[in-house]
Amino acid sequence: IRVAVVFGGRSTEHAISCVSAASVLATVDTDRFDVLPIGITPEGAWVLAPGASTLAIEGDALPSVTSGTELVLAGAHVVMLEKTRAGEVLGDVDVVLPMLHGAFGEDGTIQGLLELAGIPYVGSGVLASAVAMDKAFAKRVLAAEGLPIAPYELVARDETTLSQEQRDRLGLPVFVKPCRAGSSHGISKVTDWSQLHDAIEVARTIDPKVIVEAEVIGREIECGVLQFPDGRIEASLPAEVRTSGDWYDFETKYLDDSLAVDIPAKMDDTLTEKIRAMSIRVFRAVDCEGLARVDFFVRDNGDVLVNELNTMPGFTPSSAYPKMWSVTGLDMKTLVSTLIDTALG
Ligand code: DAL
Ligand code: MG
Repeated sequence: IRVAVVFGGRSTEHAISCVSAASVLATVDTDRFDVLPIGITPEGAWVLAPGASTLAIEGDALPSVTSGTELVLAGAHVVMLEKTRAGEVLGDVDVVLPMLHGAFGEDGTIQGLLELAGIPYVGSGVLASAVAMDKAFAKRVLAAEGLPIAPYELVARDETTLSQEQRDRLGLPVFVKPCRAGSSHGISKVTDWSQLHDAIEVARTIDPKVIVEAEVIGREIECGVLQFPDGRIEASLPAEVRTSGDWYDFETKYLDDSLAVDIPAKMDDTLTEKIRAMSIRVFRAVDCEGLARVDFFVRDNGDVLVNELNTMPGFTPSSAYPKMWSVTGLDMKTLVSTLIDTALG
């Protein structure tokens, strides 16, 4: 079975995608799968990327894929053409694993391309990917399904601030976020309304659509959802993120060592089962396929709120998704095989 692992890409999460792909390439079952590593450069070129399994964060230096033999994806029959003058055919691909985070990857765009080409792929389809990528649309869908979410306000496209009523509804502090981004890029914590305008400008460097969320005091919990080839949807044991920094920003996620994650989270069985059941409800509400990681807040009074969901969660050495499955009894190699087998139906 020929699997194209596609990674990198044009989003702000290019580097994290490279590290996620490296983990997958290093563990995929090569007895069963013939893997074709395809990098997408930050400019959008598709290139053959042999050796990608060693891409890693070295100190503060982030990896990227910048060059290689250029490829094109041609026609309804998955042909990877090597873009030599002769247009040499590299071969057919049976399934694509789009190990891409953020815009142009996790947001339905590559899923649309693969639908057009008729190629099976791992993970959610066009609509679910797009909805989950957009924090505001995701919240509307979750709320419509009766799932609990925290207060939020959208910054109107023609505004650079929130109205007084909107501020009053949220209270301080708030988190200002690009609506469609990940890995905490472009997010600011605002503790005084005088900082709001600048925070919106920062978020707008990534996405013109900006969302402002009320801070939730409580525990930060994550849960993995996985769909099996027979259609069964299961949730992993949850994890708890405990940051010693102010919040779970990019540095804490990937660069410094202040990140402590309890996997599994230390919580009683009732709360564990509540989180697992709610994760599956979120997965179904957004019509996800394959996999997702659902992120929650648990207030001190026990209330559980859905924060967001990621349809292609990180697979880096510090990412929770593969580790949560590992403590649930599914090692990374089996996890990756399951993802591919489910995509192939
Ligand atoms: N957006 C990052 C990769 C995550 O959710 O893990
Ligand atoms: Mg995220």
